[in-house]
Amino acid sequence: MKLFLLFLLTLLPPLLSAKYLTNKSCKECHEDIYYEYQSSYHSKTYFNDELHRKVANAVSTKKYECVSCHMPAAANKKALENGNEHPSKLYKEQTDAVSCFYCHQIGYVKQAHKKNIIYISKKPEGYKPSMFGSLEDPDDSDKHEMLNNPIYKKNVCLGCHSHKRNDHDVMIFDAMKDNQDSTECIKCHMPYINGGAEKMNKRGRLEHRSHTFAGIHSLDMREKALDIFIHPEHDSIEITLQNKMPHPLIIQAARVKYLKLTLNRDGKIIWKNFQKSPLEDKQGAFLIEFADKNNKLVAIPAFAYKRKFVNNLQAKEKKVLKYKTPSIKKGDIIKAAFYVILAKPSCSEVLDLQDKSLTSPLLMKEVTYKVTNIK
Ligand code: HEC
Ligand code: HEC
Ligand code: HEC
Ligand code: HEC
Ligand code: HEC
Repeated sequence: MKLFLLFLLTLLPPLLSAKYLTNKSCKECHEDIYYEYQSSYHSKTYFNDELHRKVANAVSTKKYECVSCHMPAAANKKALENGNEHPSKLYKEQTDAVSCFYCHQIGYVKQAHKKNIIYISKKPEGYKPSMFGSLEDPDDSDKHEMLNNPIYKKNVCLGCHSHKRNDHDVMIFDAMKDNQDSTECIKCHMPYINGGAEKMNKRGRLEHRSHTFAGIHSLDMREKALDIFIHPEHDSIEITLQNKMPHPLIIQAARVKYLKLTLNRDGKIIWKNFQKSPLEDKQGAFLIEFADKNNKLVAIPAFAYKRKFVNNLQAKEKKVLKYKTPSIKKGDIIKAAFYVILAKPSCSEVLDLQDKSLTSPLLMKEVTYKVTNIK
């Protein structure tokens, strides 16, 4: 019986993942998309993302448990996860980060408690790989087959961006609701831009989906995150913040986003919502802080036993903040600016970050209000 099974197995075509095609290999035909992608954060991983590498090393210098989302094309995932092997620049599957080929092979995403699980579509050995992509009129090329796959579009972002819990069952990030799918994400983060999807542009297409995956690192995108409304009263200011995104204001636990509010008279600041650190203002600073077993602050979420402090705006949530101020007069100017620091102070203190853009405030939005009359 055993022999018979073995015989059967040798008859079946080996269902292996197709041979890995590097990001560079796509450039031959999809040049514009290749350069867009190279400027995106999907091209960043352990080797070229300082923040990610330093957090990963702070978690463990042996095991690299981040691989499933940050280096998903790696052929030795298990060995990297359990520490038998370390990330190595020698392998394109590792330096390619969230690679073109990997993303376009996502066949199925299983929802799970700790983090979702991605299954890559398999093909018998020797066959041309199939790519999943746009739904409109997919076309074959001599290099690869195209499959029209609505499931792909619904699931493609879910595998990595939905949620993640650590080993102590603490939620590190929770970005997507169960009923949300990827088509929504694609609309904002992959808008149509000029030019064909392929270099020869035989079909004369006028536009393609942008692969810059613009997000928090782009000023244009940062401006779109929220609306700020200013309502002055006799001796107070009311600020309404409206999250315009279908995901929380804070997803990535390293970030802090905050309001800087000033009341200005005759060119001088006469009142502000914090003196030195934006964290002094508990309602205007948005962040997630974690605690260890003894309820002490921990910067690295992997070590957390619970969430210690959460101030966040959920998808589309509106919040009204109230500030007591000196009495407000006609002619006063109120400035409300909203900033993000990519690596919040508690995080950068333990990581020794070199890249200043990680620790300096980046502007998201600024609104000014000139007081003409007070109700
Ligand atoms: C030898 C040229 C060539 C190479 C190399 C190549 N492609 Fe393509 N690809 C094409 C052509 C031609 C089309 C059809 C273009 C069109 O519809 O405008 C296409 C279409 C696609 C589409 C779907 C476009 C659509 O509108 O449906 C995806 C997705 C895609 N390629 C991904 C990749 C990825 C990922 C790689 C690298 C692993 C790659 N391609 C490498 C030539 C190539
Ligand atoms: C379930 C998938 C998943 C796992 C596992 C995962 N991450 Fe991430 N990580 C993401 C996603 C998605 C982002 C993109 C940003 C976001 O969600 O806000 C990200 C972003 C980050 C960032 C911010 C990077 C930047 O340049 O600003 C850091 C730091 C980070 N992850 C560290 C880690 C570390 C360290 C591990 C392993 C201990 C890990 N992540 C495991 C999904 C994951
Ligand atoms: C295989 C995992 C994976 C998949 C699938 C994936 N992402 Fe990501 N994404 C990441 C990781 C990891 C990062 C953070 C990389 C870093 O900063 O080092 C990221 C970062 C981003 C960012 C932040 C960019 C910035 O400038 O901060 C956006 C936006 C994004 N992804 C959108 C998407 C969208 C839209 C999809 C679906 C079409 C998608 N991602 C699919 C893993 C993934
Ligand atoms: C209505 C437009 C819109 C939609 C739809 C949208 N986003 Fe965003 N997203 C934004 C904007 C604007 C930013 C940049 C500002 C910010 O991060 O606060 C952003 C930021 C991000 C970031 C970067 C966060 C960080 O701190 O690094 C990730 C990751 C992301 N989005 C993933 C997704 C995913 C996954 C979906 C699908 C569920 C999605 N987005 C849907 C507008 C959108
Ligand atoms: C995070 C996942 C992800 C990564 C990484 C990624 N793509 Fe895509 N790509 C998509 C999605 C999703 C679509 C389909 C968007 C749609 O039509 O709704 C797409 C569409 C395309 C298309 C068709 C474009 C169009 O407008 O018809 C081509 C060609 C393509 N990708 C090539 C590439 C190449 C080449 C790379 C690497 C340089 C790459 N992709 C990296 C997710 C990804």
